Amino acid sequence: MVDLPGDRAVQRALDLAKTAQWYRRFRLNETPGQSERYAEWASGVENDPEVLDLIIGLPRPKRQPNLVFACARLLGAPLAGYPVFRRWLIDSWPAVAAEARVRATQTNEPRRLTAIMPVLASIGPRVALLEVGASAGLCLYPDRYSYDYSGRRVDPVDGPSSVLLTTDSSGPVPLPTHPPEVVWRAGLDLNPLDVRNPADVRWLETLVWPEQAERRRRLDAAMAIVRRDPPLLRGGDAVAGLGALAALAPVGVPLVIVSPAVLVYLAPDRRAAFADAATGLGRWISLDGMGVLPRVDALLPQPPGPANFMVSLDGRPVARCGPHGQTLDWLA
Ligand SMILES: C[S@@+](CC[C@H](N)C(=O)[O-])C[C@H]1O[C@@H](n2cnc3c(N)ncnc32)[C@H](O)[C@@H]1O
Repeated sequence: MVDLPGDRAVQRALDLAKTAQWYRRFRLNETPGQSERYAEWASGVENDPEVLDLIIGLPRPKRQPNLVFACARLLGAPLAGYPVFRRWLIDSWPAVAAEARVRATQTNEPRRLTAIMPVLASIGPRVALLEVGASAGLCLYPDRYSYDYSGRRVDPVDGPSSVLLTTDSSGPVPLPTHPPEVVWRAGLDLNPLDVRNPADVRWLETLVWPEQAERRRRLDAAMAIVRRDPPLLRGGDAVAGLGALAALAPVGVPLVIVSPAVLVYLAPDRRAAFADAATGLGRWISLDGMGVLPRVDALLPQPPGPANFMVSLDGRPVARCGPHGQTLDWLA
């Protein structure tokens, strides 16, 4: 088929509108209470045809607001109001675009364990843990962190941790006395990050949004714990690499496969293939935004808001939570 100039103009107009919409959704759904700076930048981009035109030059997945802003900050974008930021972004676009092309958002958020740890404990006091989309593996250490569920505290067997994961919880969260013991831990990721590598650490820190000093402190403290006893991390795809890594797990303890905030990056048919593979190998805990696993969403008693995530065990919803584990609403 011949690609006519008129078709290209229509495609460009569509791309501009979709990208503006993406920045708008990001501003409305993700930034409130999290980052006024990102909210302002997103609002600026949404209404800035010149900047949108640069962004649509990137492959679709790389136009993600979080990725573009993080790459800009990595390269020294001033944490200033939109007019100053946009000037810098336009001047520095070739470098920002090159960075975005080789990177992906790999935000590693141990606070998501507030939602995962009680499910893990319901499986057994000792587990083998395999995380898919592990980033630097910080979510592989549920046994090394302390937790606070709206005033109810859970500490590791050997006492309070230097990392306290807090969540605003409701509903009958089944809390254990201590987090379960992880007898084996391993992570799979397209691009594993290493907490001993300063460049990886810098990227992980940049992925924390500008005003989130507490999150940044938590990240640094969790990285210190992981650095003392780094996990087994393998490079590979969620579906293609799962079986080989699972085969290394010890026998005699339940193997639990966790997939927090990763399935959204897989095409829908590959999410289904992953679900089949994970449930065939062991128990499967996932934490996903609404719409990522429609068959699981459909089992929720009432439709949740767009900013909600869902925790599920073996394809059945057990709780709703904030995207970073900051809230937890256990289903009765
Ligand atoms: C948003 S991060 C989540 C990291 C971690 N699970 C957490 O919750 O803190 C998503 C991770 O999934 C990885 N990823 C994306 N697509 C993947 C795939 N097809 N196979 C394996 N890992 C993938 C990315 O490299 C990234 O590190």
